[in-house]
Amino acid sequence: MIHLRCNDVKYTEYIGKEVTIRGWVHRLRKQKENTFVLIRDDRGGVIQCILSSEKALTLTIESCIEVMGKVRQDSRAPEGGYEIKATDLKIYSVAKVGYPIGEYQSEDLLLDNRHLAVRTRRMSSIAKIRASILKYARQWFIENNWLEVNTPSIVKDAVEGGSTLFKLRYFDEEAYLSQSAQLYLEAMVFSLGPVWSVTESFRAEKSRTVRHLAEFTHLEAEAPWIILDDILRIQEQLISYIVQNTVKENSADLAYLKRDLTDLISIKTPFDKLSYEKVIEILRSKDFRIIEDNGTERKIEWGDDLNIDSERELTRDCPKPIFVVDFPILLKPFYVKEDDEQGGIGLSADMLAPRGFGEISSGGERETDITSITKRIEKEARDPKNYEWYLDLRRYGSVPHAGFGLGIERLVRWVANLEDIKDTVLFPRTMSRVRP
Ligand code: 4AD
Ligand code: MG
Repeated sequence: MIHLRCNDVKYTEYIGKEVTIRGWVHRLRKQKENTFVLIRDDRGGVIQCILSSEKALTLTIESCIEVMGKVRQDSRAPEGGYEIKATDLKIYSVAKVGYPIGEYQSEDLLLDNRHLAVRTRRMSSIAKIRASILKYARQWFIENNWLEVNTPSIVKDAVEGGSTLFKLRYFDEEAYLSQSAQLYLEAMVFSLGPVWSVTESFRAEKSRTVRHLAEFTHLEAEAPWIILDDILRIQEQLISYIVQNTVKENSADLAYLKRDLTDLISIKTPFDKLSYEKVIEILRSKDFRIIEDNGTERKIEWGDDLNIDSERELTRDCPKPIFVVDFPILLKPFYVKEDDEQGGIGLSADMLAPRGFGEISSGGERETDITSITKRIEKEARDPKNYEWYLDLRRYGSVPHAGFGLGIERLVRWVANLEDIKDTVLFPRTMSRVRP
């Protein structure tokens, strides 16, 4: 007896052969003599099985079964024209009637029942694309001789501003969930050279948007002796490599999600670089308007930060990611290095995904001047005492270095062409959602 997954059955070599398939009843149609079951295996593949035994009449949606039978080809069979005519049926469990997930369901119901909705083809396709993205990211770093490291999730202070920190009681003191591994990666480059990590980052994002989660998977990298331009080259190579390989490996999943593959295939180095000043000029020429907190509206101007709307406008017609550089340093965190040649400008870059998707990474050169960092930490209303260990890195053998952080969910959202970031992760965490 050959044990197979559904998609493996769909090869001519199995026609007429006896096989066994294990899986769940995905769709069910009971007729007088036969029961037609679309069975779904544990990798999301499906195939039609025709059952004639009495036992089949007890089946319900999501019952778990094992079907033994002969493979045959029939152009009327759904999902590729192959089916299994059962000779035997083993029932592992009969599911309770009334499985909550049907074909057309509200977003909220699907999210409330995510522990079951992970079984839909849409979610398994997305999960497989995400797995490839992480696999090829790791492969790129291995091939390019970067060292993978791990960093703590429980930390003493902010990297990306105090307002999104998750506070927790840590024995007898206060601590926070990490927003970014960056400061720890900076400590490592002195002895480990180019390093990278994948960690969960936490941000208490109070606004509801289609691209913010309270917990996200953060890929970060840091290396000594490199400058801003190097960080751009590294990121464009990494992204092109991930996208090209994911398209090859997951073309069926991407097609299932109706992702335009030719659009992805064109993602190759180099990516264009645009200055912040130029970006503001472009947005002003399109009369892009900012809505202030008090509700008043005005034209965007130099000094405004970019947001989800301005980035969408800017990248709507871009075929490839772009880097935005030369931001006013006032818009950037304490660790961004100020450009010696252009006062007030930071040596940092955001990578914006095309077709309106917007920011997927931020990075750049790190400030090495301890006085300037300390002042800026105070300006962010953080206590420099908590950063003493970080400041030691500037006291003892400081070295020019640079790095970046890439949001895996943002990357998946773009590659899989998903509207809502909550779909890029199987169990999303947002302000209003901490279960299941
Ligand atoms: O731009 P951010 O805040 O930069 C940093 O954290 C740097 N310390 C990284 C570094 O240089 N090592 O975050 C980096 C990326 C963003 O570009 C975005 O893709 C993602 O992390 N990100 C989020 N993704 C989902 N939900 C959120 N709330 C996110 N906040 C940031
Ligand atoms: Mg950023």
